[in-house]
Amino acid sequence: IDMTPAVVKYATVPPEDDDEATIHVSKTILTHCVREGEGILSSNAQADPRFQAGDSVARYNIRSAICSPITFGDRTFGAIYIDSSIANYTFTPEQLALMNAIGAHTALALANAEQTARRLQTERLAAIGETVASLSHSIKNILQGLRGGADVVEMGLDKGDIKVARGGWEILRRNLDRIVTLTMNMLAFSRPKHVELEPTNMSPLIRECASLLSDYCEQNSIALMIDVDPEMPPVALDQNLMHQALMNLMTNAVEAVEPGDGVVSVRVRYHEASRPKRRRPVLEISVIDNGPGIPKRKINWIFEPFHTTKGIKGTGLGLAVTKRIVNDHKGRIVVESAEGKGAAFRVLIPADLDEHADPSATDGGPGTPRFGGLS
Ligand SMILES: Nc1ncnc2c1ncn2[C@@H]1O[C@H](COP(=O)(O)OP(=O)(O)OP(=O)(O)O)[C@@H](O)[C@H]1O
Ligand SMILES: [Mg+2]
Repeated sequence: IDMTPAVVKYATVPPEDDDEATIHVSKTILTHCVREGEGILSSNAQADPRFQAGDSVARYNIRSAICSPITFGDRTFGAIYIDSSIANYTFTPEQLALMNAIGAHTALALANAEQTARRLQTERLAAIGETVASLSHSIKNILQGLRGGADVVEMGLDKGDIKVARGGWEILRRNLDRIVTLTMNMLAFSRPKHVELEPTNMSPLIRECASLLSDYCEQNSIALMIDVDPEMPPVALDQNLMHQALMNLMTNAVEAVEPGDGVVSVRVRYHEASRPKRRRPVLEISVIDNGPGIPKRKINWIFEPFHTTKGIKGTGLGLAVTKRIVNDHKGRIVVESAEGKGAAFRVLIPADLDEHADPSATDGGPGTPRFGGLS
């Protein structure tokens, strides 16, 4: 190994002279120590028969030196080296023993750190593999849906049967929607934490989400009810991200309920700050359904990425992304559900527009929403 010492840190101001910045050590002593794998104490280095081959001992006028290897098993990390050119000063065996102990501890820590880094790397690769497997599985299913739809369209066109072609087109469109949603969720999942807050009127945002689900609800006789507090002021949100978070929650709800008697309601409320109880205004969005609900033991599990009970129809990214978006808004999401009793997802987000508009009230750096979090 290359045993050329280099300055890593100075205790005082670094010297300007390049030569002074070079550390002169006895390579002869250092090499001997590392090669033999044992600590060395030399009380009179210039007369020491072990170091006669090299000239560094004489060149640097080294009188006494101690050197301990930093090795673990057959792995050599380096050595600790101290020398002195003071004629009547000699290092002691106790000092060597102490340095050997320091060398051994350092080596153990380094070996440990190396092993941890290797394990992390292995775990990372495994996680990437799992992610790619889940995503490609979903994408493959959607592509199969697209091809199936295209085949039906083609069949209808060949036969001149517009009804069949329209049926195929429905399949195509549904799968196009799925790949758009999946792509948006993948992007949201890997995006930086930054949120672009802007004053947002909740009513049009919720209605936009509802209109994207209205065809599905109509076809499956699901009642989708929207109830937005008409008095509420605009709130500070990242509109694109919140749109996506709400779509994920609302899609889950309409997918959970029984066609025929499914009811999904989305309720939006604005809670004024009421010091000292509530320091800042809060936006509350509830998405409530009368579906099968979520068993208690699965409540935490549903927010993990790629956990889905929908087989080929789900990827399991929706709630993971939604939770991230809500957290990035310094809010929180809570679920109330019991098996067979439906589910209620409640999103709570600090909603003070004033602090958002007033830069002097900011507390965070770039990427931090300009308001504090909810606890
Ligand atoms: N409203 C709900 N009622 C019952 N179960 C739900 C509800 N919302 C979510 N879940 C459960 O949580 C799981 C994870 O939801 P998530 O939205 O993360 O993934 P997904 O809907 O399965 O797939 P994706 O959203 O990626 O298409 C679902 O598979 C389902 O089991
Ligand atoms: Mg979902």
